[in-house]
Amino acid sequence: MKRDLISVLDIEDMMDETLALAEQLKADRTSHSDDLKGKTLAMIFEKSSTRTRVSFEVGMTQLGGHALYLSPKDLQMGRGETISDTAKVLSRYVDGILYRAFKHETMMELAGNSTVSVINGLDDLEHPCQIVADLLTIKEHKGKLKGVRMAYVGDGNNVCNSLLLGAAVVGMDFIAGCPEGYWPNSDIVGKAARIAKTKGCISRVVNDPKEAVKGADVVYTDVWISMGQEAETGTKEKEFIAFQVNSSLMKLAKKDCIVMHCLPAHRGLEIVEEVIDGENSVVFDQAENRLHAQKAIMLKLMQ
Ligand code: CP
Ligand code: NVA
Repeated sequence: MKRDLISVLDIEDMMDETLALAEQLKADRTSHSDDLKGKTLAMIFEKSSTRTRVSFEVGMTQLGGHALYLSPKDLQMGRGETISDTAKVLSRYVDGILYRAFKHETMMELAGNSTVSVINGLDDLEHPCQIVADLLTIKEHKGKLKGVRMAYVGDGNNVCNSLLLGAAVVGMDFIAGCPEGYWPNSDIVGKAARIAKTKGCISRVVNDPKEAVKGADVVYTDVWISMGQEAETGTKEKEFIAFQVNSSLMKLAKKDCIVMHCLPAHRGLEIVEEVIDGENSVVFDQAENRLHAQKAIMLKLMQ
């Protein structure tokens, strides 16, 4: 039976094992080097990518397999071939499909019509692969996940949605500070709150960035304008200025608080230079961990 990773919740039952495997792969980069020998991952990117594309492609090489980068411009999909036909055809050739999509609906359509595992490389609802790398990074820097207090500040977007779920799954306290009207997806907020209740941890969304950051061990932010939302740029930037991660906001967090950003970042907007390039920033460890996390995900889903 194929297993997809569309939402963080699709790997809820194996999050701990996936993180442990990622740690092991980081400690010994040459391990599992034949495990995906002869296997191919098709990677369809409707939007730009640096980290997701490169970490999956390099990861596949390091595991003995092959990754194929497919742009919709080159695929017949770009000329109107349906997602479902594309899914059925690719399933006859490859062993897994990584898909970065504009819309969650097309992600579901591709997954519903593929007989091989589909991995969500970001859509407008979630970014689950990012969150596996993020949890790995927090575990490395804080030595644990349970009991860690994480604040997310900014747009209640795909990354925020997946962080809400990821934090609840591992029992980490999570408070998102998002402007009114830009809160994370309400179904996901509800699901995360239900899971958090069973784990005895906090899962909340507030309007005040200061309330979110107070006493935090981790402060995380992401762009205000996600890919596909470029038309909202001017208005959104004005509404979000109070949600900028800067030195005065960071004073409210714990002294040893780490700073995270999934990247790409816009210095001077959602985060200022002195914070993202400061000594508490772990953004490049986080970016590196995409590779180890992605390898663990592929081993779990494609073997
Ligand atoms: N964080 C992230 O997914 O980066 P890319 O858009 O470069 O893949
Ligand atoms: N929220 C951002 C994440 C980029 C990795 C976007 O969707 O563009």
